[in-house]
Amino acid sequence: MANIVLVGAQWGDEGKGKVIDYLTDKVDVVVRSQGGNNAGHTVVVGEKKYILRLIPSGILRKGKLCVIGNGVVIDPVSLWEEISELAAHGVKINSKNLLISECAHLVFPYHKIFDEQREAGTQKIGTTRRGIGPAYGDKIARIGIRIGDLLQPEIFTKSLKARVKDVNSLLRELGLKPVRFEPLLHQYLEVGEKIRPLITNTVLTIHKAMQAGKEILFEGAQGTFLDVDHGTYPYVTSSNTTAGGACTGSGVPPNRIDRVVGAVKAYTTRVGEGPFPTEDAEIADLMHSMGREYGAVTGRERRCGWFDAVATRYAQILNGIDELAVTNLDGLDSLPRLKVCVAYRLDGKRIEFPPTCVRQLAKCIPVYVELAGWQQATSGAQSYDELPPAAREYLQRICDLTGAKLKLVGVGQSRAQTILV
Ligand code: GDP
Ligand code: IMO
Ligand code: MG
Repeated sequence: MANIVLVGAQWGDEGKGKVIDYLTDKVDVVVRSQGGNNAGHTVVVGEKKYILRLIPSGILRKGKLCVIGNGVVIDPVSLWEEISELAAHGVKINSKNLLISECAHLVFPYHKIFDEQREAGTQKIGTTRRGIGPAYGDKIARIGIRIGDLLQPEIFTKSLKARVKDVNSLLRELGLKPVRFEPLLHQYLEVGEKIRPLITNTVLTIHKAMQAGKEILFEGAQGTFLDVDHGTYPYVTSSNTTAGGACTGSGVPPNRIDRVVGAVKAYTTRVGEGPFPTEDAEIADLMHSMGREYGAVTGRERRCGWFDAVATRYAQILNGIDELAVTNLDGLDSLPRLKVCVAYRLDGKRIEFPPTCVRQLAKCIPVYVELAGWQQATSGAQSYDELPPAAREYLQRICDLTGAKLKLVGVGQSRAQTILV
């Protein structure tokens, strides 16, 4: 191994949690560098199903250090809930297996109120309503409060008081209920004390680990087309979900990254609003009838469609994807024919990359090739050679069209249902 960045190469929920859990076995440190508890990463170990939101999926492997980097936004109450849930399942959290950057910004209840309020307006994004956009907004506007500030109660009290005053005048203007300062202050200071031992300068921790020859895995959250710069803006999240975000969100320079792995589903899903060229009712009905493709945390029905190689080709160049981890191959087992989008038609012209403008993307008509299905179960396959020839052909085709090598195939939810190519 080496230092690896794992990114979602579609619209999120590509199965990153499972891939990270698998790859963690071979590294020493797992770092989350962006997003917040809008993420929901599912890892199935034996009979147990874990859904990680803020804590890196690497936490389930013993002897690994997980780091929540500076680029993440943290709702500390939700973080404490997650820590407690893991403890109830026998996964004890302490400063040996989890460290949090003191520079990570805090999510407050008023961020969630603003998130809800915007979602009730005319430009609905379909957010997770976790306050992510408003929290990143405060960070960029330089009015945010960082988790390190929690460790200095006097400074924290002063900053929060000033912030709540401004927030409340805005809330009143919008006709919304103001936030009560005292209970909020006490709730945050209390959680702050509980997580105090975990908060540190993680840049130094990660660099020390690298100097000692340890290998790092950067766990991406969300997906390429939810990136605030490169995604289907404004139907995106508020962080850089592409590979560059791993550097800025952790303090690791680009020349220390050795490889980029892209996670994709063997088809495509998306949650929330925004254009989705290969969306298809038939494949959505099939997935939902199997009980698949419901949001890991929100339970929302995911929109489904065919594999979009125009999108993944763009994801390959944006992230520098060397290898692909293709998950959920088994979801396609029953289909007699499979469509793969190889280009779009926009205003009568064939294009190979998605337009950056969301209004143009909404007008794109997919150009499909059809491949034969395999119509047999793949979930028991233990090696690449055990997969049906048509499934291998499908995998090779989507990797060739994307421009990256096939590394890993997922044929079921559990850890064991992973094939290394
Ligand atoms: P993430 O956000 O990228 O970690 O993905 P989610 O956990 O939100 O959604 C992926 C879903 O697919 C979860 O229910 C996973 O358990 C499931 N999953 C991942 N890989 C496979 C696979 O190869 N086969 C099947 N059947 N399910 C998978
Ligand atoms: P993981 O890490 C899928 C989507 C939301 C919405 C948009 C903005 O599990 O892949 P936000 O709450 O971030 O302001 O919502 O982004 N979204 C995700 N979709 N997977 C995720 O995370 C997502 N995180 C945010 O549905 O469309
Ligand atoms: Mg998810």
